[in-house]
Amino acid sequence: MRTVIDEPLSVGALTSADVDIRNRDFLADAANIPDASIDLIVADPPYGLGKDYGNDSDMLSGDAFLEWTYRWLDLAIPKLKPSGSLYIFCTWQYSPELFVFLKHRLLMINEIVWDRRVPSMGGTTRKFTSVHDNIGYFAVSKDYYFDLDPVRIPYDAETKKARSRKIFEGSKWLELGYNPKDVWSVSRLHRQHAERVDHPTQKPLETVERMVLASCPPGGRVLDPFMGSGTTAVACARHSRAFTGYEINADYCAIAESRIAEARAARLRENEPARSCRKTLIATDNAAQAAE
Ligand SMILES: C[S@@+](CC[C@H](N)C(=O)[O-])C[C@H]1O[C@@H](n2cnc3c(N)ncnc32)[C@H](O)[C@@H]1O
Repeated sequence: MRTVIDEPLSVGALTSADVDIRNRDFLADAANIPDASIDLIVADPPYGLGKDYGNDSDMLSGDAFLEWTYRWLDLAIPKLKPSGSLYIFCTWQYSPELFVFLKHRLLMINEIVWDRRVPSMGGTTRKFTSVHDNIGYFAVSKDYYFDLDPVRIPYDAETKKARSRKIFEGSKWLELGYNPKDVWSVSRLHRQHAERVDHPTQKPLETVERMVLASCPPGGRVLDPFMGSGTTAVACARHSRAFTGYEINADYCAIAESRIAEARAARLRENEPARSCRKTLIATDNAAQAAE
């Protein structure tokens, strides 16, 4: 007779050892991360816009900002595996210099434009209103990891119907959906969004999840040198990637920890019916065998 074994979830929920939150300055601590150990870097650093993160990290501008950015990039890049890649959030004010700097060290894959869908509210009258952030996507080599399938966008029923001619029959892309374009239109988080926590520049989970799913293999490790409220950590907890994150503000580390705990609990709840159903199936199977 077989015994009932309540195996770990096959979805591979991460253990706490896979989440490494460091309440430290990334530049001071980077030497403690082994070289070539990271699959993906998601970096959302201070932009030099004077935001209040409970510290003066966003007060640099001009050459001082660029010099600081080049310093942390030079510390972060060697941490990537040969198949690794990096996304960096930035603004149009500094993206030209940053992209040139990065192109001397890595392979540029995309410039992604994040359209924050900011509503029109009057505003500036001497130039066009800026509603986007620039995201540079770079890889260590042309053999970088990239999995399109988990981030494909499903076609709606109407489009599928319109493509019902014989030549499209059996097309994998028609069933799986299409490749997201390089303009990502996702509203920035407002107070009324359920996802929003107490951080001034929290990124939408949807945006970071796409990076993690496409650019880090399941079970791989993501590094976020400027973790803030832990959006990248939440994406990792939801999708079985290990995580290392840095943040100098202890309050933000606490927010990140509670968001990770919530994400894990939600995952367990989602999988609970499958788990108890599996237990029942095995028990039924055991009972049937015993009766034979
Ligand atoms: C743009 S925010 C990141 C927001 C984050 N992506 C989120 O969704 O919440 C940048 C964060 O970097 C932190 N920071 C600034 N300098 C740092 C440093 N040298 N090491 C670690 N964290 C730092 C700031 O306190 C701030 O919370």
